[in-house]
Amino acid sequence: MGAKILVVDDDLESLKLIGMILQAKGYQIVAARDGQQALEKAFREAPDLVILDVMMPGMDGYAVCQRLRADPRTGTIPIIMFTAKGQLADKVIGLQSGADEYLTKPIHPRELIAHVEALLIRAARFQAAARPSLKAKVIGFLGCKGGVGTSTLAVNVSVALARGPAQGKKVALLEFRPGMSTLALQFGLKPRDNLQRLVDQPIGALNAEVIQAQMDRHPTGVMVLSGTPVPLGTAKSIPSLHAAAIARHLGAEVDYILIDMGADLGEVNRSLLKLVDYLLLVVEPYRIALLLAQAMLAALEGMDIGRHRVGLVLCHGAPAAVSLDRRTVEEFLQQEVKAVISPAAELAFQSAEQGQPMVLLQPESVPAMQFRQLAEFLSSL
Ligand SMILES: Nc1ncnc2c1ncn2[C@@H]1O[C@H](COP(=O)(O)OP(=O)(O)O)[C@@H](O)[C@H]1O
Ligand SMILES: [Mg+2]
Repeated sequence: MGAKILVVDDDLESLKLIGMILQAKGYQIVAARDGQQALEKAFREAPDLVILDVMMPGMDGYAVCQRLRADPRTGTIPIIMFTAKGQLADKVIGLQSGADEYLTKPIHPRELIAHVEALLIRAARFQAAARPSLKAKVIGFLGCKGGVGTSTLAVNVSVALARGPAQGKKVALLEFRPGMSTLALQFGLKPRDNLQRLVDQPIGALNAEVIQAQMDRHPTGVMVLSGTPVPLGTAKSIPSLHAAAIARHLGAEVDYILIDMGADLGEVNRSLLKLVDYLLLVVEPYRIALLLAQAMLAALEGMDIGRHRVGLVLCHGAPAAVSLDRRTVEEFLQQEVKAVISPAAELAFQSAEQGQPMVLLQPESVPAMQFRQLAEFLSSL
């Protein structure tokens, strides 16, 4: 089901017609026949947009619009005034009473849809610009480069959370990188590109319910949204507004959102970073990775992601004996290492072979313990 639209009109024919046009595009319709009903339904149903007739017996559209704007529950809902009153003075009153658009009847269905879509996109953009207070704690996992174990970390921490401090709560693991997507495989799930199916929908059609319906549920309870493992550049890219809208809708519903961000600061990740409460930067303890991590930290600071919101995770691909130690890394990057994940080549191999995260395959192993510790730390933030 798509975005919810409240249609207010005292004329039943008009109401039916608008409803049918919108329903055909996948929108959910809530109908009201007068001003009083409109207010009740707006407060109760929290629609994503309101289409409001002006001339109605009792409370007219202008008054409804003012009341909606004055109430914190409905103050920012996009409102289209849709009326036969096409005089300039009527439009001015409509806009002054808080409507975003003023359309006159009759209108071609395609034009009405275009306005609805545009307004929903504008609202999504507006929301994306403001840092929201989401229900979910949002944690980003960013690699200083590819192959350092970012996805492995995100997968294992999500399971450790769902099984540990976040037991009974909702944990979602997302990625927005079509191509090179490994999350589903790491969970032993069949990649079915649920991400692309969401992105194919108009942004106004996205809501928490639609998004959750596309997510895979791992037996541990972790909800997974993943792309497909195809070569990078061959899959359709994700519009950053869609990515942010998905995270935001879900963030109103679940308790934890973990995002595997890969290793770039492109447009999608930059828009997601606005939602992130805490960012884990994954580094490997050798010179080249540290130089890249240094550049990443500097770029993040330039994006207003202060160092207090960033924690380093040291992932050892190679045995510790041939790597730089924790102190050296901290001194070089001038940043505290929050967690160390020990090398476990054999376990990593088995885990990939069997599609079982390390924390499940060998719960007593050292990395499993380290993943659980990190999950504890994140839940305490
Ligand atoms: N602690 C570890 N010890 C040894 N190998 C690991 C460890 N963590 C991950 N790996 C392996 O490193 C490779 C890259 O991991 P992945 O999580 O896909 O990295 P990224 O997401 O950063 O590209 C994989 O083959 C994975 O099995
Ligand atoms: Mg990865």
